[in-house]
Amino acid sequence: MSTPYLDALFSLGGRRALVTGGSSGIGRAIAEALGRAGAAVVLMARRPDPLGAAAEELRAAGCTADWVAADLGDRAALRAGADEVVRRFGEPDILVNAAGVNPRPPMGELSTAEWDHTMAVNLDAPFLLGQRFGPGMAERGWGRILHIASQQAVRAFGNSGAYGVSKAGLAALTRSQAEAWSRHGVSVNALAPGFVRTPLTEAVFADPARTEAVARRTMAGRNGELTDFAAAAVFLTGPGASYVTGQTVFVDGGFSVT
Ligand SMILES: NC(=O)c1ccc[n+]([C@@H]2O[C@H](COP(=O)([O-])OP(=O)(O)OC[C@H]3O[C@@H](n4cnc5c(N)ncnc54)[C@H](OP(=O)(O)O)[C@@H]3O)[C@@H](O)[C@H]2O)c1
Repeated sequence: MSTPYLDALFSLGGRRALVTGGSSGIGRAIAEALGRAGAAVVLMARRPDPLGAAAEELRAAGCTADWVAADLGDRAALRAGADEVVRRFGEPDILVNAAGVNPRPPMGELSTAEWDHTMAVNLDAPFLLGQRFGPGMAERGWGRILHIASQQAVRAFGNSGAYGVSKAGLAALTRSQAEAWSRHGVSVNALAPGFVRTPLTEAVFADPARTEAVARRTMAGRNGELTDFAAAAVFLTGPGASYVTGQTVFVDGGFSVT
């Protein structure tokens, strides 16, 4: 139901959103939520086929959606991708950093290449895209940056040595960007999901006993669903979040506080 009251709090009408990782899993679900709340969304990831399919599905759901392919682990490709977004669609008002990777070797076997790649995609790219788009949002006096962190920002979980570090860094980046740009109308927050079935977690979900054990450790008694993030993402990227900034909001069924 759309009413003037709800629109003033939550509508993303007239806003442009760039969603990295928007072709799959949580990023795709958040892109659809933003699109359904009125934003024109641009999806960014590496593979054109899933990007095209996701954009098509979003359009079928009534959203304005398009995509740009870029490898965010490569700084030159990231710059070129960001330039293409601006050239084709204009400067984004909303940036959602959902692209992420999680190699899971035991800590002692984690290679420097895996470490570097995890940091490049999960932490450097959100920083670089923030540098690219944050100052413009501040100059225009309105913007929203939403990083997708993880409950692993505050706990160790299943051979995710580099991943947890990157997500803890993302929570700190959230505060630093919020400090820089909040007084200019740019709210910067992170959303931390719990444990959700996506291609990223397929290997862990392959073990039903472990999956069930994780569900039991949450307060809600279940693992996350892709639909669980829509309301928080729309709120944190919308007008109602103008005084909510620098925060990491855990949408994890209480997992992080057990
Ligand atoms: N699933 C969970 O339980 C969970 C929990 C907490 C946090 N998260 C976070 O949620 C976010 C989304 O994860 P997900 O579970 O939805 O995973 P997913 O379904 O595997 O999606 C990952 C997305 O990132 C993109 N991507 C990966 N490497 C990239 C690169 N180098 N450049 C550009 N795009 C890249 C992928 O597309 P391409 O492969 O085509 O590039 C895909 O769109 C991640 O930040 C993840 O850390 C997930």
